[in-house]
Amino acid sequence: MSPRIPPVFRRYWEVAPKDLDRAGFVSIEVRRALFSLGVEPEVVKRAGIVCFEGEMNLVLYSEGGRIVLVVSPDRVELLFSDRGPGIADVDLVRQPGYSTAPDWARELGFGSGLGIPNMEQNSDELKIHSRVGEGTVMRATILRRKYDGR
Ligand SMILES: Nc1ncnc2c1ncn2[C@@H]1O[C@H](COP(=O)(O)OP(=O)(O)O)[C@@H](O)[C@H]1O
Ligand SMILES: [Mg+2]
Repeated sequence: MSPRIPPVFRRYWEVAPKDLDRAGFVSIEVRRALFSLGVEPEVVKRAGIVCFEGEMNLVLYSEGGRIVLVVSPDRVELLFSDRGPGIADVDLVRQPGYSTAPDWARELGFGSGLGIPNMEQNSDELKIHSRVGEGTVMRATILRRKYDGR
């Protein structure tokens, strides 16, 4: 990754568990904030997708968490951190189709197992750190320009 340029904008949102009525709210706010900062539409689109999938996972699988948006001249970062069951096998959840979504979520159309693959596809880097029984942290980085030596 290229050398870091200090952030110009930082904001966070709390995400309540199991609250499907509010699910998707943060990704709308993130898109709005990025547009108002003049971030490139392509980057806003990718960040919106990454945020939506990360937000849904916090709602469905965690006991609550936080999403932090950091905007720098060269990149947009989204950090998802939660308290919850954690992820025992990080490689497994990166595989398309893997899902442990409960029946109540499947009945609502969730549980395709494509959320994390979608986050990876729309990021330049997706880091996942997790401790079973404690929680999970994911950091998605979306570069705003192509730099040499990426
Ligand atoms: N924040 C999280 N905490 C614990 N487990 C998670 C979290 N996010 C994702 N997972 C696990 O990873 C699996 C795959 O997630 P994802 O690719 O978004 O697909 P889906 O949400 O459709 O199951 C989930 O079914 C769940 O088992
Ligand atoms: Mg998901």
